[in-house]
Amino acid sequence: SVKTPPAQSLLDWYDRHRRILPWRSGLGQKADPYCVWLSEIMLQQTTVKAVGPYYHRFLEKFPTVQALAAADRDDVLSAWAGLGYYSRARNLHACAQQVVALGGFPQTVAGLLNLPGIGAYTAAAVAAIAFGVPVVPVDGNVERITSRLFAVEDPLPGVRKALATLAAGLNKDKAAQARPSDFAQALFDLGASLCSPRSPACGLCPWREHCEGHKAGIAPTLPRRAAK
Ligand code: ADE
Repeated sequence: SVKTPPAQSLLDWYDRHRRILPWRSGLGQKADPYCVWLSEIMLQQTTVKAVGPYYHRFLEKFPTVQALAAADRDDVLSAWAGLGYYSRARNLHACAQQVVALGGFPQTVAGLLNLPGIGAYTAAAVAAIAFGVPVVPVDGNVERITSRLFAVEDPLPGVRKALATLAAGLNKDKAAQARPSDFAQALFDLGASLCSPRSPACGLCPWREHCEGHKAGIAPTLPRRAAK
């Protein structure tokens, strides 16, 4: 069996260093599912920094999921202009209409997965961040962190499933179960700041003593990727 690092160390680090982002509520406050969902869809194709202005403008135009559902599709597409990948905007509009028909966002991963434009990552992110469901959303950041923690040298994309299984074990301790939303976002922040792709700042990492990749001196080389 694999030894998982203590969630509490990561959460302590997050409490000191977490980023203030437009869609984030205060520590311990409830996040708005509409805002969380919208930000996660925008962040799939665009950086945190670039999303900011679009996110604010979009919310000004469509402040609630009801407003978005009732809007004309062309108005939704024009508010999306610049973000690209217009199938996302069409799915966004269709999803808003389904959510309104359902009387609100489903609060489970399975329920969220039934909605247009919501795949495994987005379902887990919304469930964890907006509804406190103890699941670990696996994006590129979380894959990188996981490959380093467990010194996984097998290459992507083949190792993706194995990394997802290892990542799913990261929140099994009591500290992570008590704060699913913060734990998910702490992983995003760790991946965006210290555990960066090229030159991770392992000396500052709250998990450095638990990271097999760091201990073996190979953290910056992970995850590996199969030659094309
Ligand atoms: N990337 C994707 N979702 C994010 C979030 N909620 N916070 C920061 N970065 C993210």
